[in-house]
Amino acid sequence: MEGRSVYRRGRMAGCRLRRLSLGMRFGDAERLPETRTLALAVRRNRLIPICLPPPVGPRPEKLPAKLPAVEEQPVTTPWYAIENAAEVPSPALLIYPERVEENLRRMIAMSGGVAGLRPHVKTHKLPQIVAMKLGAGIEKFKASTIAEAEMTAAAGGRDILIAYQCVGPGAHRLARLIQTFPKTHFSALVDNGGTLAELSAAAVAAGVEMTLYLDLNVGMNRTGIEPGDEAVELYRELTRTGGIRVGGLHAYDGHLHNPDSAQLAADAAEVRDRVSEFIGRLRDEGLEIPRLIAGGTPTSPLWAAHGKQELRDRYGIELDVEVGAGTTTLWDFGQAAESTDQDYLNAAVLMARVISRPTRDRICLDLGHKAVAPEMPQPRVRWFTLEDAEALLQNEEHLVLRTERADEYPVGTVVYGIPRHICPTVALQSEVVCVRDARAVENWPVVARARRITI
Ligand SMILES: Cc1ncc(COP(=O)(O)O)c(C=O)c1O
Repeated sequence: MEGRSVYRRGRMAGCRLRRLSLGMRFGDAERLPETRTLALAVRRNRLIPICLPPPVGPRPEKLPAKLPAVEEQPVTTPWYAIENAAEVPSPALLIYPERVEENLRRMIAMSGGVAGLRPHVKTHKLPQIVAMKLGAGIEKFKASTIAEAEMTAAAGGRDILIAYQCVGPGAHRLARLIQTFPKTHFSALVDNGGTLAELSAAAVAAGVEMTLYLDLNVGMNRTGIEPGDEAVELYRELTRTGGIRVGGLHAYDGHLHNPDSAQLAADAAEVRDRVSEFIGRLRDEGLEIPRLIAGGTPTSPLWAAHGKQELRDRYGIELDVEVGAGTTTLWDFGQAAESTDQDYLNAAVLMARVISRPTRDRICLDLGHKAVAPEMPQPRVRWFTLEDAEALLQNEEHLVLRTERADEYPVGTVVYGIPRHICPTVALQSEVVCVRDARAVENWPVVARARRITI
């Protein structure tokens, strides 16, 4: 159990609290008959929710060197709990920058260095996290909206792929982005001749050059053109269209997320084979491919490990391969369940309060589906300490949970949980709460939640 130690002394539910072991030293805690609620939690082998008063008395470093046994153990509170929860309105999404930074380090290690990494900003939509990425040496970004691209450029991003089709007004907005941020290199996707013509006209009219990637449909059947004759022709067309520069190929395999890692590896290898073969064909036609951008969270480690090497071994082609994982920045329990081989930290936590106890075995939280991604089945949140709870009803601002332990959660109790799907959960927040040293320290507006910032 991860945790941090704090020293507490005070009263809870009429019980005198001293330095209690709330970590996983349940055996110790059971020897504390006066802490009735704590002993209950111990029997059920989980940490109870506990609303401790603010710390009073000296901190551990000021205590005598020799601490008496049992009751004198340091209190360990879990990593996600905040000391000043009473000041934070709920529902709230808490972001833990140190955990984000650790995830960035793991992402860089996964991709074999920053050169092979183009993380997606759609997961967080926050300039503060773009700044962290820049601080970690990450220079390339993926975005899915013009607003995300604008937020990223304004935060200092200098190479941004809008992994999307900029159609209709999108073509002119892309041109305006290029004009507005001359130090940033923007690019976008194309998968048909009509969009290519539209983007070319917008680029020429604005007097700018647009870099476009050919978007390949590698099995997701969402966007893209299937690797084949037509795709070769469209790629050739790209090379001779006014106002357009060829970026290379984009292959997003979001349909691959089998939790069985052997099956995932086999499926991903098939996709890589198709893409490699297509690249070989383009090369045989004398066409240049500057770069390949591929993969989401499940397949990024596989692309990073094999993509470049396979092209070299099989076709003698030297090509930069970049991976575009996004969820890895904040992580969630849906992705953790699918990508069991990947090890990232939960860096975003939902905080809610019990607002009612309508029946003996039910509690109602202030976390409706306007605060957590509702496109997923229940449970949409995995609540710490409430593992037995079953989501019975979720309305716009209410979540009713059934739990035999409802009596341990009086109205006002603060609870914390991990969302199933973090990306749309972030997009539902107007601001998130930054947590440092177990305290909520500032609010960060979710800038790129807007569909339009200025452009
Ligand atoms: C085109 C594209 N690239 C990359 C990603 C990031 O993938 P993930 O959410 O698995 O990290 C997504 C996610 O939707 C995407 O649509």
